[in-house]
Amino acid sequence: MQKLIVKGKKNLTGVIKISGSKNATLPILAASILNDNRIELNNVPLVNDVFTMVKLLKHIGSNIKIDLKRKKIFIHNKNKIFETLAPYSLLKTMRAGVIVLGPLLSKFRVAKVSLPGGCAIGTRPVDIHLFGLKKLGARIKIKNGYILAEAKNGLIGTKIRLPSISVGATENVIIAASYAKGTTYIKNCACEPEILNLIDFLKSMGVKIVWLGKRYIKIVGNKDLKSLKHQIMFDRIEAGTFIIAGALTSKKLVVSKIVPKVIKKELKILKKMGVNLKIKKKHVTVFGTKNIKPISINTEPYPGFPTDLQAQIMVLMTKANGVSTIKENIFENRFMHVPELNRMGAKIKILGNKSFIFGPQELNGAEVMATDLRASVSLVLAGLIANNKTVINRVYHLDRGYEGLEKKIRKCKGSISRSN
Ligand code: EPZ
Repeated sequence: MQKLIVKGKKNLTGVIKISGSKNATLPILAASILNDNRIELNNVPLVNDVFTMVKLLKHIGSNIKIDLKRKKIFIHNKNKIFETLAPYSLLKTMRAGVIVLGPLLSKFRVAKVSLPGGCAIGTRPVDIHLFGLKKLGARIKIKNGYILAEAKNGLIGTKIRLPSISVGATENVIIAASYAKGTTYIKNCACEPEILNLIDFLKSMGVKIVWLGKRYIKIVGNKDLKSLKHQIMFDRIEAGTFIIAGALTSKKLVVSKIVPKVIKKELKILKKMGVNLKIKKKHVTVFGTKNIKPISINTEPYPGFPTDLQAQIMVLMTKANGVSTIKENIFENRFMHVPELNRMGAKIKILGNKSFIFGPQELNGAEVMATDLRASVSLVLAGLIANNKTVINRVYHLDRGYEGLEKKIRKCKGSISRSN
């Protein structure tokens, strides 16, 4: 298995161009199943989860091509016969594949999709996905690890209140409702920026969607969809990751190709910690900060502080003058990076879903293990500030969601390399 070697105490300086969002691309690719006309996606992130989703769509019959050089995806499903089975072999590595359930069921009235299974950060159930699809008229049963869904007369628009806030379930139900007969009202939706980007995509295809409230949406189903070109939004988690990297290491680091107002909560928290930021319309400049203040944060659904940035800000908290805390409210097991950071000399205690980070603490290079996508990048951040060398094992986690991480860091004078 490949590993990353990071040499510490290097100041990052220069410009980091942020890639497209993995978590916007995946539901948009799933939604492409609905449309037989030409689709062009721009600013696509070249990360393994996107390659896996393309492979899944190809497997079920989509006429899909990825242009690696221009970071575009072209889809044209006219007269294509779709297989409505999404196999475990493809879903076991990329849970978000379950989002093909809604479009397959809505378009073809039948679908057999593997239960995605859990991962390091939690059991990741899909009960809310199934709740919403049943409300739209689907008959669903679980057999031998698969979701068997059918809607003999097609899905019918209705009123739905999702039992709790779920990004994936909101996406699955919105996509399914986009091709259903009639109008659907959904309450208690997630409203992450990636969902807004998915909605822009669906509206450009000809689906009428309006927000009636902060978490309340109306969708008028439409089967007569048209060709479109769509720009994938920037990856706000990658942006936050590199802004934190800048706060940890840099003299001056520019994080560009972003929309700072989308991450205003994160920027507000970093400013409260004393991070020196200059915020412009399409980029943020971050200056290395000596005096970091401790802070207490909760991870919450958007527009709260994102769980996907929790591991990264924890590294910054190891430099703070005092005790910081993080309450992880979204996933039941998202502190897997803590034992690894403690092996590097951090002083972090966990009590239930709350962690206490005692700072400031000098970190020392060590051999560590990546456990999930965001935990892996927190170990890279720790390696950048630690004394000596850090070796990070199981780098495949990182390759799922960060495009060209090493190249971006090396371009800003960081020392990071990969070995088998
Ligand atoms: C999406 O996962 C993201 N993944 C995650 O990013 C992100 O951490 C998460 O949203 C929260 O923001 C993609 O967009 C591909 P949820 P998702 O449904 O949709 C529970 C990354 O690092 N739940 O909002 O799976 C669930 O267990 C990944 O890029 C149910 O109980 O998250 C969790 O506790 C990691 N039943 C909570 O809801 C369900 O049917 C939030 O999950 C669905 C979810």
